[in-house]
Amino acid sequence: MPEDHFGPGVAERFDDRYGYQADPAVVDPMVELLAELAGGGRALELGIGTGRIALPLVRRGVPVHGIDLSEAMVAKLLAKPGAEQIGVTMGDFATTRVEGVFSVAYLVANTIMNLTTQEEQVACFRNVASHLGPRGAFVIEVQVPRLRRLPPGERFQPFDVSPHHLGFDEYDVARQGLVSHHYWIEDGGVEVLSPPFRYVWPSELDLMAQLAGMALRDRWEDWQRRPFTSESDKHVSVWEKP
Ligand SMILES: C[S@@+](CC[C@H](N)C(=O)[O-])C[C@H]1O[C@@H](n2cnc3c(N)ncnc32)[C@H](O)[C@@H]1O
Repeated sequence: MPEDHFGPGVAERFDDRYGYQADPAVVDPMVELLAELAGGGRALELGIGTGRIALPLVRRGVPVHGIDLSEAMVAKLLAKPGAEQIGVTMGDFATTRVEGVFSVAYLVANTIMNLTTQEEQVACFRNVASHLGPRGAFVIEVQVPRLRRLPPGERFQPFDVSPHHLGFDEYDVARQGLVSHHYWIEDGGVEVLSPPFRYVWPSELDLMAQLAGMALRDRWEDWQRRPFTSESDKHVSVWEKP
């Protein structure tokens, strides 16, 4: 089982720190696309967390099941109204099996990068494929690796500089790894978190899908389905089972 980087301290503050991601302007287009892909069937969320997407998706009438390895994050989800309609299986989403067949599986907010080896990321695609029915869809939202922004010889890149949070990534290009360093300045103290990730290229994800018997159906720059271009800094990709 991979290490849990979402322990009680992180879970306690997660919804406050990332509240902007729960804004309806962010969530509504995500739910819209996922409900469309579910098409009356079930949805599987990998890394369901505190239910930012699962809860509004259930309210939209889509049955959702989630996988997560953090007891603390899932406890936060289960304390929310509407959570009684969501099934949760504890485990690693690269390998954990859930009963039944799904129309759509989704892995958002860069969470594929929480799997820190290529083998685990490939296993995740294979695991998803084994849960999908014919024409089932797998959706990933993830950043495009930001190496073009890294000056030659540098390995640190800031992604948030604000009075309450300093965040910067530390790249290990040889390993295709990065560590996201967070300095949270709250209540007169500083909390430092440094979870590890593996960044992954769009074409590499397509190859992982191919290994798992799926093919790219759509790739957009965002949930509003704007075209993916050379300037896009993230993508929302949909692979489909035959
Ligand atoms: C950034 S949070 C995102 C939560 C939710 N999907 C959202 O968009 O708000 C990532 C979640 O994925 C879970 N997670 C990370 N790696 C995992 C793994 N290998 N297996 C299962 N859950 C994992 C974490 O515990 C956490 O709850």
